[in-house]
Amino acid sequence: MKIKKLLSLVACLGLSVSLLAGCANAPSGTQTEIKTETTESSEENILETDVIVIGAGGGGLSAAIEAHDAGANVIIVEKMPFVGGNTARATGGINAAGTAFQKEAGIEDTVEVHFADTMKGGEELNDPELVKFMTENAAPAIAWLTDLGADLSDVGSLGGASFKRAHRPTGGAPVGDHLVNVLFQNTTSRNITTMLNTETTEVIYENDKVTGIKAIETVNGEKVNYTIKADAVIIASGGFGNNPELYTQYQPQLDGFISTNQPGATGDGIILAEALGADLTDIEQIQIHPTVHTETAALITEAVRGNGAILVNAKGERFTDEMSTRDKVSAAILEQEGGSAYLVFDQTVRESLKAIEKYVAQGLTVEGETPEALASALNMDGTTLKTTIDTWNKAVESGTDSAFNRSAGMEIPFTKAPYYAIPMAPGVHHTMGGIKINTDAQVINKEGNPINGLFAAGEVTGGVHGAERLGGNALADIIVFGREAGTNAAALAKSDNNFIGAATTSTETDKADQPKINEEAKPQYKDGTYQGEATGNNGKISVEVTVKDGFIDTIEVLEHHETSTIFMSIQNDLIPSIIYSQSTEGIDAVTGASNSSSAVFEAVNMALSTAQ
Ligand code: FUM
Repeated sequence: MKIKKLLSLVACLGLSVSLLAGCANAPSGTQTEIKTETTESSEENILETDVIVIGAGGGGLSAAIEAHDAGANVIIVEKMPFVGGNTARATGGINAAGTAFQKEAGIEDTVEVHFADTMKGGEELNDPELVKFMTENAAPAIAWLTDLGADLSDVGSLGGASFKRAHRPTGGAPVGDHLVNVLFQNTTSRNITTMLNTETTEVIYENDKVTGIKAIETVNGEKVNYTIKADAVIIASGGFGNNPELYTQYQPQLDGFISTNQPGATGDGIILAEALGADLTDIEQIQIHPTVHTETAALITEAVRGNGAILVNAKGERFTDEMSTRDKVSAAILEQEGGSAYLVFDQTVRESLKAIEKYVAQGLTVEGETPEALASALNMDGTTLKTTIDTWNKAVESGTDSAFNRSAGMEIPFTKAPYYAIPMAPGVHHTMGGIKINTDAQVINKEGNPINGLFAAGEVTGGVHGAERLGGNALADIIVFGREAGTNAAALAKSDNNFIGAATTSTETDKADQPKINEEAKPQYKDGTYQGEATGNNGKISVEVTVKDGFIDTIEVLEHHETSTIFMSIQNDLIPSIIYSQSTEGIDAVTGASNSSSAVFEAVNMALSTAQ
């Protein structure tokens, strides 16, 4: 086995953590190549892997999958108790030009037009090399995500785009949590370790290269220290849109704005990279999203406007081209009474976009059976709102918006009751600046050179979006550069033969040579999927056992409250041993974790009791 020593496990026992709070999926397992050692004096856990990914949002998960598939051993560390980052909140779509889905829908978009739209939206402040790389690799990213199991077959409009190119699930369902589920399932099926509640405190740089990180896992309020050694580190920890102290340093006028960002978006990765001399770019470029629910700060996707909604002010009048870039729409809203507005649409628009169902279910919408009734519910003049809607319907029918020159999202006239409004105002949404990278996703230092072994991807980086990001380009950015960072980090790790050699111990080889199931075992269970649970040292452990052709095929841990170190041992040793023996009888407990091992045995036996 690869886990060499677990001397500090006793120190870890008694600590527990809810690894999955707020997360729909079980934590991932670990790869057998990870070594665990302990320095007895400091009781610090030492892990070794090839590639560390800091951050478990869409960029980090993509990086981890690619690094793994390129042959590297990977550990993901995530400071929050859940995976997904801001990606889980993304709704509108992922931009790509020239995809099979666009072709099926007869959309004649090209990479060149995507490039031009992105540069124009960014006021040409963008790094053209990065934009070229993103736009050229966006369609392959859609194909890759589809291969991983994503549904991105619906293509819609978002602001600033010359063509429909925002790919999203069927019916216009929210894209972000779907992608996070698909990506995270792909990390778990590859047994990539994800350490939740684990904050990176330092990227270690020795002898002219990055050699790992220092991190602290919080376990029931207690701190567990780690040094994780690796040949490459990928920072994919997201932006700083939930760090008002930081973003108001760059944009003081944003003081008091609501934010669409998840609580972990505090910019830690930028600080880690700066400590190694990384250069920053466009750091003062902070995007506000025009349509954020005023009370809850929930993002109301631009796709609602892309599918036909209009914006009206407190008087019930339109005031802008709703499909312009976010800076322009936000500025127009901020000029209205109260600096806010209403997003207005009808039942047909609602039925055209599944994402709207969430807003209705969350109680964010106000309804009326007629435009006048809706106006009354909003304390607005009914005749004005009725006239605004009638004028809009004529613009949709003629295809010409003579009032504001809107040209996208003009396919649905408002003819079907009820009519809806969502009160909204601009909110901080995306930090477009960050760590400077090149097209290999290498972090660039202040002298203009790559920092050896350090990669970055996603919102933590800058340069792709310039002065204004187009909706749908965030996901394109994070997936394209996440994949690139993963592939290149793995290539770097694999080029270090000493390291790879060190990771391949004889015990691992023995294990790889061993059949998954003892050849003498007989089929003894009914095929199916069975669940069981028990109480470990730190709380509930639940498992799902799958029986195929009469044999235990897989055992997945659905929930646990163990430290990452113990969980790795359970995943690496205990579960493969149970599968090999087709029973929990006679299997040795994990050293220093006998209660938790017993709980795994009990949970598996409970599951199997219904499979007899
Ligand atoms: O409005 C939205 O759905 C946001 C998309 C994005 O920020 O890319």
